[in-house]
Amino acid sequence: MKIGIIVHSQTGHTLLVGGRIREKLQSDGHEVTLKRFHNTETPEGPQKPENIKLDHIPDANGYDALIFGAWVQAFNLCPGFTLYLKQIPDFDTNNVSCFLTEQFPYKWMGGSLALSKMKKQLTAKGAEIQASGVINWSNKKREQQIDALVDRFSSQYQT
Ligand SMILES: Cc1cc2nc3c(=O)[nH]c(=O)nc-3n(C[C@H](O)[C@H](O)[C@H](O)COP(=O)(O)O)c2cc1C
Repeated sequence: MKIGIIVHSQTGHTLLVGGRIREKLQSDGHEVTLKRFHNTETPEGPQKPENIKLDHIPDANGYDALIFGAWVQAFNLCPGFTLYLKQIPDFDTNNVSCFLTEQFPYKWMGGSLALSKMKKQLTAKGAEIQASGVINWSNKKREQQIDALVDRFSSQYQT
C-alpha cells in the first residue's frame, strides 16, 4: 500500500514516532512517505489557529492510507494541526489513523480529550479512523507505548 504519514511536530517527538511507524511499515513492504510541518510563529498568549503560521501545508492526497500525528498543547489538540486541516481539501482515502504525543505521563491528562478532537476534525474531512493512540513522553514505559502503537498501526494493513 501507499501510505502517507503527516505529522505536526515542533520539537521532534511526534516526528520520531512517525519515523518509527515508517520504519515498520517499510519493512512490511509498504511504500511510505513521512512529511513533517511545524509552526513558524508561536505568539504569546492563548494560541488560536488564526494566530499561527505554518512552514508549509503537506499534500495529503494520493495515498491508499493516511496516518496523522500531532501533539497536545494546553490540554488540547495543538492549534497548528487544526489550521492545517482547515487548509487542505477533503481526503481522497477514508483509511485514516492518528496519534498524539504529550509530555504528561498519562493520556487522561489532556491526551484523550485532544485525541477525540483530532478524530472529530479528521472525520469531518472524510476519514474513517482505523487506529489511534497517545504517547506519553514522560511515562517510564514510553518505549513500550511506541512499540505497541507501531504494532497496532502496522497490523491494520496486513491482508
Ligand atoms: C506551549 C506548549 C503547551 C503544552 N501543553 C501540554 C499539555 O497541556 N499537556 C502535555 O502533556 N504536554 C504539553 N506540552 C508538551 C508537548 O505536548 C510534548 O512535548 C509533545 O511531545 C511535543 O511534540 P513535538 O516534539 O512533536 O513538538 C506542551 C508543550 C508546549 C510547547
